[in-house]
Amino acid sequence: MQPSLTIRRPDDWHLHLRDGAMLAAVLPESARHFARAIIMPNLVPPVVTGVHARAYRDRIMAALPGGMDFTPLMTLYLTEETDPDDVAAAHADGLITAVKLYPAGATTNSASGVRDFDRVRGVLEKMAEIGLPLCVHGEVTDPEVDIFDREAAFIDRVLDPIRRATPGLRVVMEHVTTSDAVAYVTSQDRDLAATITTHHLVINRNHILVGGIKPHYYCLPVAKREAHRLALRAAATSGDARFFLGTDSAPHTDPLKESACGCAGCFTATNTLSILAHVFEEEGALDRLEGFTSLNGPAFYGLPPNEARITLTRGDPVPYPDKIDTGDGPVTVFDPGFPLHWQVG
Ligand code: DOR
Ligand code: ZN
Repeated sequence: MQPSLTIRRPDDWHLHLRDGAMLAAVLPESARHFARAIIMPNLVPPVVTGVHARAYRDRIMAALPGGMDFTPLMTLYLTEETDPDDVAAAHADGLITAVKLYPAGATTNSASGVRDFDRVRGVLEKMAEIGLPLCVHGEVTDPEVDIFDREAAFIDRVLDPIRRATPGLRVVMEHVTTSDAVAYVTSQDRDLAATITTHHLVINRNHILVGGIKPHYYCLPVAKREAHRLALRAAATSGDARFFLGTDSAPHTDPLKESACGCAGCFTATNTLSILAHVFEEEGALDRLEGFTSLNGPAFYGLPPNEARITLTRGDPVPYPDKIDTGDGPVTVFDPGFPLHWQVG
């Protein structure tokens, strides 16, 4: 008999679905396997108010193919103009699950993000009061700071001061890429968790740069050296409930990736679960996969885990497409560089 693993249906605690033709093409890739996802608000223009979030949620539900079961968990994009009362009202209506902090200029469509953290103090205090989590893109944007050091610098310069100044604020440090972030999260005793992407468990910076530049491995925060990848694998497979899956699956069309100034983002929605099963099997931690994909995230957000189950079966290599077609052009599916033997369903 083929080995198999049945787990509660997973959720994705960090996902880019975009809008329009791209949304229509990528949404089924996530909804096929994931029950819920935290939806990133970095559209152009960004999702900054409750009214925007409601309209975006409606567009997502309208794009969901019939018969698919998927719940988008909406977020607001924090700006220096964000009104604490609008945030509280959107939370009270059950419309939003988190607020997203992008330091201005840190990544794709982050120009409206925060420059002066004192200017969002009122929103953060309101969020602490009502228990609404803040999802954080944890990189400083100071041009003096080397891109490989930007996450570690963010912890000292921004994240820790914000958390000290706002007791009770619940924070998700998203897509952590360093042993520094893992150490910071594990050193805190409350109100802090971290998501880890699929691709950061698989690639280090050599994969991007050795033997020619690989634009489809470029994302932000950029993958770091091997020791950091190993720290992420240890955290993800440790069973520590403060770490959970946020794929950061971020589609860009091939022309935008394969360019002299290529966009940041790895598109992993299609094959994420097969890759994760492979990684957890390699680490001898298949029994901890369910915690990472399906239990720890809901526990942090105070939501029930999904009742439905999925079964992964180990067998012959699973064929995944190299690319998916979208109305905007082809999007390359993340290539882990090894055959995938775990099939979902
Ligand atoms: O690689 C990334 N892509 N990192 C981000 O933070 C944003 C995302 C995107 O929106 O494309
Ligand atoms: Zn992201």
